[in-house]
Amino acid sequence: MMRKQTQLMAEAHLHMPQGVAENYRYWGDNRTVFIQSAKGCELTDCDGKVYVDFRLGYGPIILGYRDERVDQAVIEQITQRGTLSGFATPLDTQVVKQIKSLCPQIEKLRFANSGTEAVMGAIRTARGYTKRDRIACVEGGFHGLFDEVMWKSDIESWDPAGVQEPRIIPFGSGIPTKTRDLLDIIGLNDFAALENLFKRRCDELACVLLEPIIGNAGSISASQAWLQRLRDLCTQNGTLLIIDEVKTGFRVARGGAQSLYGIYGDLTTFAKAMGNGYPVAAFGGRADVMSVVGSHQGGVVHGGTYTANLVALSAAHRTLDILAHTNALETAHQMGEKVRDLLGRVFTSIGLVHSFAGPPSMLGIHFTETIPQSYRDWRKTNSDLFRRFAWELIDRGVMLEPDSREPWFLCEAHQTMDLGWLEDVVTQSITAALDAEARDKA
Ligand SMILES: Cc1ncc(COP(=O)(O)O)c(C=O)c1O
Repeated sequence: MMRKQTQLMAEAHLHMPQGVAENYRYWGDNRTVFIQSAKGCELTDCDGKVYVDFRLGYGPIILGYRDERVDQAVIEQITQRGTLSGFATPLDTQVVKQIKSLCPQIEKLRFANSGTEAVMGAIRTARGYTKRDRIACVEGGFHGLFDEVMWKSDIESWDPAGVQEPRIIPFGSGIPTKTRDLLDIIGLNDFAALENLFKRRCDELACVLLEPIIGNAGSISASQAWLQRLRDLCTQNGTLLIIDEVKTGFRVARGGAQSLYGIYGDLTTFAKAMGNGYPVAAFGGRADVMSVVGSHQGGVVHGGTYTANLVALSAAHRTLDILAHTNALETAHQMGEKVRDLLGRVFTSIGLVHSFAGPPSMLGIHFTETIPQSYRDWRKTNSDLFRRFAWELIDRGVMLEPDSREPWFLCEAHQTMDLGWLEDVVTQSITAALDAEARDKA
């Protein structure tokens, strides 16, 4: 019998480019996943196959899919009070106060609908405050889909053994070359590049934008010393530090990555885990910096029809309440530790070199001896083997992104998963992946 997936894919091709609602969902005609439903830590696809999911929609799910506590709060909001009016509500301030109680660096905040929008707001605010135009980012980071940050090091076609630097290329077509003019990209943990950036750009640089734990490069992390030096150089040069916590916020710790380092940005962006899957985001930070936002003469413009809509805010209100007052995050971390130990046990038993990067609730898995310190180090890992391993796992009912740049996400609901089953599946999958690799090499 024909798979439902085949029918749905064929039909979707008639109506959407590549047959998907956004680029990253297209995994090839046979592989693109159509989901029927999700609950807890599991997904069920259109053909009834069930997966334990470590992808979690690229990170927003921190409690579990269809968490009844959050869903109930949203249902009450939309059935009793409404979804949006285009006016202020008491919930706006309540949610800001919740965020401030978890993240001491936040003095004032504004909401957004996506990580992309939050980052755009933070950059515009930094430019408005500093009256400077240039921005800098870190190689391997990702900050959303707007032209200015859609430039990257072409790491795939870079020769790690050669002397050439990777080329900087746009993510794709449609991005004007001019949008590259105001952007510098430096390597994570590269002290020389950092000093050089500030030497060249000192009084032109509005902000440096980075994920200290790179959620889009396998949780490769800034060292304490490098992040501190970046913080100090920003302060000395009047440049604002924007910490992008879209993936790490309310996930790696209640106070996000910054609370793990004890080093704080002037501005922070949030999204994903703050709403457990409901589309909500925010940016905020120092009161003096945020005070440039507003409709006064020369103020930074921020707004949007759906900003602080009450579907999003009621979800954030309940999610943040659960994260603040229950052991949900501790549970997600413990499950991450268990998964990390299990993977380590299996890999060690077959003599496979491996290393883990990042915190257990956002676990980077790399086939290499030492933990990568930069995106260029990632290129030297055996990411092809990871890809084979991932497809074997997916075939056996474990969902993940088949790219080791995407960490494994853990949520509270993973506490129900069968670790014995997972260990068997991991063992079978890595054995099959290594066999296939050996066959191809022969
Ligand atoms: C660190 C970071 N910033 C920004 C974004 C963009 O967020 P969104 O996809 O909600 O626009 C992402 C998305 O994955 C991200 O990981």
